[in-house]
Amino acid sequence: MPVPWEALIPFGLLTVMFGAAGTLLNASQRAQNLGKGPRYNIDAWDEMMMDRDNRLTGNKRGQTSDTVAPEGFSTSSTWYAQNTQ
Ligand SMILES: *[C@@H]1O[C@H](CO)[C@@H](O)[C@H](O)[C@H]1NC(C)=O
Repeated sequence: MPVPWEALIPFGLLTVMFGAAGTLLNASQRAQNLGKGPRYNIDAWDEMMMDRDNRLTGNKRGQTSDTVAPEGFSTSSTWYAQNTQ
């Protein structure tokens, strides 16, 4: 006996699989960004600011409101000898 709603089974499978993949990707990207969404269209200035934030807080997505830079901040930067793009 044919099941009248037999197309719902692969439809449900596809929906669950795409949903699981998207949720896992979302969770993975947020875990790498301190719970924030991923950044898009990053240019050289953004990379420089992310490098600064990494030196200030230990994470490229970190933010701080301290008015005094941490120990060693003045000597931890990299002098880029040439444009690496
Ligand atoms: C990713 O997860 C966050 C927080 O759980 C949620 O706000 C956001 O809408 C999700 N993004 C997608 C594309 O599901």
